[in-house]
Parts: sequence; C-alpha cells; structure tokens
Amino acid sequence: MENAERFVTSSLSSFDEEAIEKSLRPKTFNDYIGQDKVKSNLKIFIEASKKRGDALDHVLLYGPPGLGKTTMSHIIANELGVDIKITSGPAIERAADLAAILTNINENDVLFIDEIHALSRNVEEKLYSAMEDYAFDIMIGKGPSAQTLRVNLPKFTLIGATTRAGMLTGPFRDRFGVICRLEIYNKNELATIIRRSAKILGIDLDDDAAIELAGRSRGTPRIANRLIKRVRDFAQVWGDGKVTKEITRKALEFLEIDELGLDTNDRKMLQTLIEKFNGGPAGLDTLAASINEDAVTIEDVLEPYLLQLGFIARTPRGRIALSNAYEHMGYKMDEEKAKDAKLYEKDIKD
Ligand SMILES: Nc1ncnc2c1ncn2[C@@H]1O[C@H](COP(=O)(O)OP(=O)(O)OP(=O)(O)O)[C@@H](O)[C@H]1O
Ligand SMILES: [Mg+2]
Repeated sequence: MENAERFVTSSLSSFDEEAIEKSLRPKTFNDYIGQDKVKSNLKIFIEASKKRGDALDHVLLYGPPGLGKTTMSHIIANELGVDIKITSGPAIERAADLAAILTNINENDVLFIDEIHALSRNVEEKLYSAMEDYAFDIMIGKGPSAQTLRVNLPKFTLIGATTRAGMLTGPFRDRFGVICRLEIYNKNELATIIRRSAKILGIDLDDDAAIELAGRSRGTPRIANRLIKRVRDFAQVWGDGKVTKEITRKALEFLEIDELGLDTNDRKMLQTLIEKFNGGPAGLDTLAASINEDAVTIEDVLEPYLLQLGFIARTPRGRIALSNAYEHMGYKMDEEKAKDAKLYEKDIKD
C-alpha cells in the first residue's frame, strides 16, 4: 500500500496537512515536549556558541518520520537567533546547486538539509570541505589546464535530518559535532502534545480522551495530531463536537486502529510473520514481498514502533515475532519458539 493511503503513516500526505502541521509546530524549546536529553544537550551547545559568538557545530538529527526533526531544526535556528535556509538531499542535484546555496548564506546561519542521506556522493564530498574548512572548491576549465579555485564561505551550521542514519557514510557522520537520535514518545508526552494541539485548534477535548488518543498514536506526534483532527470530525457528526473517550474509541474502531495504535498494515505484517513464517526469522525483503509493502516502509514506518512495543526483534537471520505480538494478535506460541524469543525479549525496555 502506498504511504499516502495509510492512515497511521507518519509521513505527510497533503498540502493542507502541511499547513496545519505548521500551525501546530512548536517554536521554542519550551513548547517542544519530550526528547529531554536531546534538548538539554542542544541548549548547552547553543548557549556556548552564542557566548563565543561562533557558529554552532554541525548537527545531525535522526529518527523515524514525524518525531520532530524538522521542528527541532527550526527551533535551533530560532534559539540561536539566526536565519535558516531549507533544502533537501534530493533537491541538491549537482555540486553547482550546493555552491549556489552555500555562497548565499550569512555568517552563523543554519543550513537545513532534510533527507540528507539522499545526497549524491559527489555533492556529499563537496560538502566535506564546506563543513570542515568553510571553503568550497570550484573547478575551472577542463583537461590539463583545469584549475581549482577555492572560495571561502562564512561559518555556518549544517543541520542534517534523516530517517536513515545507517545510509550515511562514516566520514560524513564524523563531520557532525552533535549527533542526536530522536526517540519514540511515551504516552504522557503524547497526551501533553495532544492537549496542546487541541487548544491551538480550538477542539474541546476530555482529558481521558487525550490519554486514549496518546496510547494509539504509535509514539509519534505527527500521528497524534492527525488522530485528534479525525476524531474531532467524528465528534461533530456523532455528537456535539466535544471529544470524549467514548467517541474517541468508536472513531478509532471505525478507522481500524487498535488499542495500541496498530492499523491493518501492522497487523498484516505481524500475522504474516506469525502464520506464514511461523514467527520467523524472515528476511526483510521476503517479508516485504509477502505483504506487498516496500522494504523501506517496513524499516522506517512499521518497524520502529513494533520494535518499541517488543513485538518483533531484528536478528542476524531476519525478523522474528516475540511473545507480546503473539498475545496481542491472539495466537499461541509453542514452547520451542518461546524459548528462542526469550533471548531477544530481555533487552526490550518498557
Ligand atoms: N516534541 C514535540 N512537541 C510538540 N509537537 C511536536 C513535537 N515533535 C513534533 N511535533 C509535531 O509533529 C509534527 C511533525 O514533526 P516534524 O515535521 O518535525 O517531524 P520530522 O521528524 O521532521 O518528520 P519527517 O521525517 O517526516 O520529516 C510537527 O508539525 C509538530 O506539530
Ligand atoms: Mg521533517
């Protein structure tokens, strides 16, 4: 199934949604709920760089879609009191595109490159000297008479965001002074985000409804914000507009999102893993083919939350289903399987 069709997909699906997302986007660290460790680190680095009057070190933000990487990048620029220029890996096709961006940047500004894993190798290598020496080498002429011209750049901060940190080369990753992994949010944090969004959107929301929604948002603020808007629609049609726990439950049942936030695709993956592969191990590509989903979607969208729930584990031989998944899906696990799975279960935190 295409990403855009999934209800609990964590990627953006329309311009409308982008506009609403913008209105809900926190602008300061104070409004940015959760990710306490990342925030407190960044606050120190930002304060120090401001004291020195220097550009902040380059920052790499990574984690699953919808957890707040873009939001955090804007906040960093905002807290630094500098401008932010926004581009993305796929948009920078040639070295000349990068040169045009870099030569237009002001001292200490932020350059935000989204999907930074998608830069071409050639552009990536050009970025190395820009990050390290604040310089850009331009080739003039061709053949034996070719010369390189070094253009000095103002000091700047590169913020890279990616859902796929594993795709960055070692040398590239090493050039970021600050590397932050955003974590899946807990229920309390999500409930706070949901209450904040409801207030901004003028939605009358009961507290137990907020908690109910939080538990079904797959640990992802983008999904939480999407659910609250959908549930409001149901509340307006089925009731007087007030979002109660009762309406929330009914609406989510209607949308086929279960108590843990799993949708039909998640359940299909678990069911296939358990039934067809006898609980695994199943290789990513094999699994992807049998549920008609692409491997990247499985890795980026489906798996992070299932891993967090302790429903599946990645083993050297492939994905396996753990006892929590069997239980949730209503299957019985045989003893042999349960013994194998135990090995992976003790590592999982709540
Ligand atoms: N910590 C947070 N507190 C409150 N709201 C948040 C937080 N993080 C994200 N959000 C909300 O979730 C939405 C999605 O966040 P954002 O666009 O920053 O995610 P992302 O990690 O950049 O996703 P992608 O990988 O798809 O680019 C934002 O519009 C914002 O409203
Ligand atoms: Mg983003």
